[in-house]
Amino acid sequence: MKKILGVLLLVLMGTISFTKEVLYVGTNAEFAPFEYMKDGEIVGFDIDLINKIGEKIGKEIKIKNIAFDGLLPALQTNKIDLIIAGMTVTKEREKFVDFSKDYFIANQVIVVPENENTIIDMESLKNKKVGVVLGYTGDLMVSKVEGVNKIQYNSAPSSIMALKGGKIDAMILDSAPAQSYVAKNKGLKIINIDTEVEKYAIAAGKNNQNLINEINKALDEIKSQGIYDELIIKHFN
Ligand code: ARG
Repeated sequence: MKKILGVLLLVLMGTISFTKEVLYVGTNAEFAPFEYMKDGEIVGFDIDLINKIGEKIGKEIKIKNIAFDGLLPALQTNKIDLIIAGMTVTKEREKFVDFSKDYFIANQVIVVPENENTIIDMESLKNKKVGVVLGYTGDLMVSKVEGVNKIQYNSAPSSIMALKGGKIDAMILDSAPAQSYVAKNKGLKIINIDTEVEKYAIAAGKNNQNLINEINKALDEIKSQGIYDELIIKHFN
């Protein structure tokens, strides 16, 4: 009996020490090439990056696909431990979550039909129907320009569809996803505008500085070991 118990205990201890702690990571897989669905799977630059970080800090990563505007609430209510979603660091978001170091620099662009040539900057969006994605930084940016007829969509793909269907005159989106969607959809082009740069970072709940420190250290290693550049080449070409 004692022997059996002893063996059971060993097995139990073995399982405990071999089971990695799981980190639940929220994303919104409608933002190629950072995160998107491919053959029923969530893939993209951010997904590879967070898995590399998981390897470095010895934690198992489980991705949860959530609506973009549900990500911060999910983090605040501890349904997830982290967010990686091409999320821009903003003063407003910093009130609710802590961010890691930034891992990508981005900016907003305007997407218009190929034959459109009156839209050249933010000012020229006045009196135009402009698609944005609900809660994205581009949404907030357009709100600051007076007289724009802003139309909110639930995702970038649905705003792209509206633009292709002539329901809106233009849309605002982060540069890399805009390029990715324009490459896949004929008849659209990108107008570069003079806007503030945006920094993407990983978010953790408040009072989780240890985790942020670990992530920052892992990010440093991933950059210095050339892994970051490999991921850029894999996902951006
Ligand atoms: N960078 C923008 C923001 O932070 C858009 C991010 C959208 N990300 C996504 N995975 N859907 O608001």
